[in-house]
Amino acid sequence: MIAFLVGTRPELIKIAPVVDALAARGAPLAIVHTGQHYSYQLDAIFFEELGLPKPAANLEVGSAPPAQQLGTIIIRAAEALAKLQPRWVLVQGDTNSVLGGALASLKLGLPVAHLEAGLRSDDWEMPEEANRVLAGRLAAMHLCPTEVQVERLRLEGIVRGVYLVGNTVVDAALKSAARARERSTVVERLGLSGKPYALVTLHRPSNVDSEERLRAVMRALLAVGERHGLALVFPAHPRTQATIARMADAKRFSEAPFILTEPVGYLDFLRLLADARLTLTDSGGVQEEACTLHVPCVTLRANTERPETVTVGANLLCDSTSPGDLEAAVDTMLARPRDWQNPFGDGRAGERVADLLLDPKVRRIPSGAP
Ligand code: UD1
Ligand code: UDP
Repeated sequence: MIAFLVGTRPELIKIAPVVDALAARGAPLAIVHTGQHYSYQLDAIFFEELGLPKPAANLEVGSAPPAQQLGTIIIRAAEALAKLQPRWVLVQGDTNSVLGGALASLKLGLPVAHLEAGLRSDDWEMPEEANRVLAGRLAAMHLCPTEVQVERLRLEGIVRGVYLVGNTVVDAALKSAARARERSTVVERLGLSGKPYALVTLHRPSNVDSEERLRAVMRALLAVGERHGLALVFPAHPRTQATIARMADAKRFSEAPFILTEPVGYLDFLRLLADARLTLTDSGGVQEEACTLHVPCVTLRANTERPETVTVGANLLCDSTSPGDLEAAVDTMLARPRDWQNPFGDGRAGERVADLLLDPKVRRIPSGAP
């Protein structure tokens, strides 16, 4: 049996193609959910929309300071995984759930498959960088989206168990974008039919935890919206909502051109993205989806662990909160042709991963072991 140890919104989206491919092969599987995300709009809605099976266990870890959250994940994941004794534990990405799940598995002697392996921002101020690097050291199977990660792992001395599979975000986005076009009415509900808009998401601590920084970013966004005549559709993550709620001048960010909403489900999000003039984001997954759906992206960060998006011309980094700098980045992206090559694969990554997980010849001990 294959266990999926997951905890947050993007993990659910990116395991779905692997779950589907295993199910199509008749392979037994179980989802162990840490409960790091638990609000309906960040969690249950994705089970419904992606048709994921109900978790075999929900560890109900919830929100807590990082070290406590990680510790609780390790303890509870170890209990759940010990009962399941899976052939592989698959973790996806770089969250606290990933590191906690990988550590629990290691201590139980269970092999770890790391989906989306080898991404690096080299920015250790972001909590995800340590999670990625450490999970990578523990894993036996490294499932890389592109050659960039294969090469990075090689430079770090990880060569065994490294596979180039593509990114399952492509499988998920292509499959669900068609359903989103048929089923989602979000553009109409928000009164955006025929109107130009940009899709905004922000949730990185470096952008949203400080009131001053978030206000400066939102002022720059406001300037872009006014200059380009764009509405700014902003489904705000709870982390971001909490900071906006503390601002004395919060009201100006919930009025036009902003359309501030709760986080939306996957189908609504893909519909909003597909119809947007561009997206302004600090999300990893959104950079990849924008690249996949040929929507220009400006990433509101100083670095990205998805450099392929910049190389192919789909994405520009802008860490400046000066309205002029952000407007220049937006001008550049709006002027570019949208005909870049998608570096993240052909939409069959889930099938490749399923085949590797079921292959008896694949080594199941950490890559560093002799
Ligand atoms: C986490 C991941 C991040 C990932 C993101 C996906 C870590 C260190 N961070 O960040 O890598 O990009 O998920 O969205 O693992 N909250 C709710 N409802 C929920 C979950 C959280 O209201 O269902 C609120 C709580 O106030 C919580 C805050 O959001 O304190 C932050 O949640 P947390 O899971 O700690 O981190 P994210 O910012 O979601
Ligand atoms: N997403 C969504 N609704 C939203 C915002 C994002 O469904 O309101 C999806 C989006 O399609 C992408 C994923 O959530 O696949 C990205 O998650 P997030 O930005 O929270 O995390 P990251 O990718 O940065 O780890």
